[in-house]
Amino acid sequence: MEIAGKLTNQQLVVTGGSEGIGRAYAFELASHGMNVIILSRSKDKLERTAKEIEEETGKRVKVLVADFSRDDVYREIEDNLKDLEIGVLVNNVGILPSMIPSKFLETKNLNQTMTDVINCNMRAMAEMCRICLPGMEKRGKGVIVNLSSGVATIPCPLYSLYSASKVFVERFSLCLQAEYSAKGIIIQYLKAGGKIHGSVGHTFMGWLLQSLPSGILHSEAMQEGFIAYVKKLSQVQLLNQVGSYSLFPLGFSTLKLCRKVFCE
Ligand SMILES: NC(=O)c1ccc[n+]([C@@H]2O[C@H](COP(=O)([O-])OP(=O)(O)OC[C@H]3O[C@@H](n4cnc5c(N)ncnc54)[C@H](OP(=O)(O)O)[C@@H]3O)[C@@H](O)[C@H]2O)c1
Repeated sequence: MEIAGKLTNQQLVVTGGSEGIGRAYAFELASHGMNVIILSRSKDKLERTAKEIEEETGKRVKVLVADFSRDDVYREIEDNLKDLEIGVLVNNVGILPSMIPSKFLETKNLNQTMTDVINCNMRAMAEMCRICLPGMEKRGKGVIVNLSSGVATIPCPLYSLYSASKVFVERFSLCLQAEYSAKGIIIQYLKAGGKIHGSVGHTFMGWLLQSLPSGILHSEAMQEGFIAYVKKLSQVQLLNQVGSYSLFPLGFSTLKLCRKVFCE
């Protein structure tokens, strides 16, 4: 209850906020009193989510349509956010081009995929920080949450672009934290699907991958076997279950940060 009272005047921005983890963040922090701005490509999905959050929490939700695979969306976002006091930014948007693993050169539509992954997973985070940090710095308060992944923990062949993009998220977050902690701003990266924040399935997979020597894990035979295994899984549609885990550990650690920054 203490958190709810203190977060009431704070404004939350969530990229990729219409579905999945971003939507769950928007719901969770709105239920603790924050007004919310969610961004994604589809106006319909955004409006549906906004209506649900407003009805359930009574908080105001603003939607902004933006395709982060493009690099010309930031002027409009900046214009829409410029008069708002953003307390919390959740850089959630991120794309895994295909759940089916493949070697870099065998990636479908490689050129476009490179642009999409770089723009959505890395550039969007840096641009949104560029837009939101100055206000946080001026007010001496703010929380930025950047979504990484368990795949950033060890080199993950067959998901090279995606896993490397998540390493960028972590390095960028750590450097920014060092630059801005003295200004009262906390920057957190979260390994969704990692050791601490994932489902039981994710945790087991993480443990297994980290336990195998890289000579075995990265061998050609292992990679071929893994591609065949995931393709088989996809045929029986088990892959849909991979992304379904509770926001609880993720959201809880962010709430603790918000309490530290805005309530203490
Ligand atoms: N789910 C997992 O198991 C998992 C594991 C590790 C890491 N992560 C990371 O956690 C974050 C969220 O994952 P998620 O599984 O919740 O994602 P998701 O369910 O696929 O949701 C993606 C959200 O991003 C939006 N989006 C997708 N492409 C976009 C684009 N080009 N421009 C703007 N918005 C876009 C979608 O809305 P529109 O379609 O309307 O644009 C949607 O709101 C990602 O950074 C992901 O890498 C997830």
